[in-house]
Amino acid sequence: MALAFLLLVPVLAALLILECPIDPSYMSFQEPPLMTGALEVNLKLRQAERLFEGELVGPESIVNIGDVLYTGTADGLILKIQDGKIHNLTRIGKPPCGTREDEPTCGRPLGIRVSPNGTLLVADAYYGLYEVNPDTGEVSLILSSETPIKGRKMGFVNDLTVTRDGRKIYFTDSSSKWQRRDFTLLVMEGKDDGRLLEYDTVTKEVKVLLDGLRFPNGVQLSPNEDYVLVAETTMARIRRCYTSGLTKGGADMFAENLPGFPDNIRPSSSGGYWIVMSAIRPNPGFSTIDFVAERPWIKKIVFKLLNQETVMKLVPKYSLVLELNEDGSYKRSFHDPHGMVVAHPSEAHEHDGHLYLGSFRSPFICKLNLKDI
Ligand SMILES: *[C@@H]1O[C@H](CO)[C@@H](O)[C@H](O)[C@H]1NC(C)=O
Ligand SMILES: *[C@@H]1O[C@H](CO)[C@@H](O)[C@H](O)[C@H]1NC(C)=O
Repeated sequence: MALAFLLLVPVLAALLILECPIDPSYMSFQEPPLMTGALEVNLKLRQAERLFEGELVGPESIVNIGDVLYTGTADGLILKIQDGKIHNLTRIGKPPCGTREDEPTCGRPLGIRVSPNGTLLVADAYYGLYEVNPDTGEVSLILSSETPIKGRKMGFVNDLTVTRDGRKIYFTDSSSKWQRRDFTLLVMEGKDDGRLLEYDTVTKEVKVLLDGLRFPNGVQLSPNEDYVLVAETTMARIRRCYTSGLTKGGADMFAENLPGFPDNIRPSSSGGYWIVMSAIRPNPGFSTIDFVAERPWIKKIVFKLLNQETVMKLVPKYSLVLELNEDGSYKRSFHDPHGMVVAHPSEAHEHDGHLYLGSFRSPFICKLNLKDI
């Protein structure tokens, strides 16, 4: 007894003295949806094929112009993939790249889209919004993250979506406080300082559409462009913000209590949406993230003792892609339990009967033939 007490004293003292990088707030979730029906566990995602393994790292978001693919990677590059070969198109930041310290200057291209005039629009986590010529690689600034929006600079520019006429770009700034390299801290703290923003390419004005979001991530305009969806990652939900009509400026929930924490949203050819989960909330099963949400003191202890990379490794690997109908209900889901083929997916881009799956950290792109499943 006495010995146990003697051993405990220094441990408790250390826990009191050690600094915690985050100040987690109390959050509580509903019980996650049962994985039945459209959410039934399957192995469909394992039918995907890995492409370019070891030739690129962290192709977060993918677009195509014809059969040419473009993606931004963890080493700050924007790549062009043509006839089975990868070409370095350009970069927004400056090398060196590859470490946490380098990331803010190296840059991190995240969301990528094709604008109606055929150029690439890129959201760089550190630098802001850019336009890139897909042939020459010429880069031009659209909006710097240094520009204060309502008195706050952008800390973590994440994803974007553009109207068919090219006039407006909707995009997310995931947090003012935390940068991309600290996304684990952003999620675990539950910080609610993310914003959905609207950039007008003619007036060059930026409007705040939604503020106080917890890790706003992927964004997607609806087929009629009457609303824009935004994944609120930390809250396991997708919000809808109306951009026209009587409800313009209003917002509601599009999908709540998802079976995981959503990353990017992209249109599906059925008129719905592909949503990729960055981590799941299994039911039946145990969701660690839900459990600690109601116990911020556990998060404090964990982050006093472990760094982000170590905590990331404790999150069970499970890859899940959902297809939602246009009303937000579940249409179908593709799973890869343990992430054996598809690992750490961030986006599902549909093109020519296939899903191209990006990842924020894996060294490959996955390609899934939708006809086979
Ligand atoms: C592309 O850029 C990377 C990183 O700078 C470099 O290692 C690689 O050799 C380049 N590839 C080509 C084909 O130039
Ligand atoms: C292309 O479209 C984007 C988005 O609408 C716009 O910002 C950009 O100025 C356009 N570029 C050219 C070269 O017209």
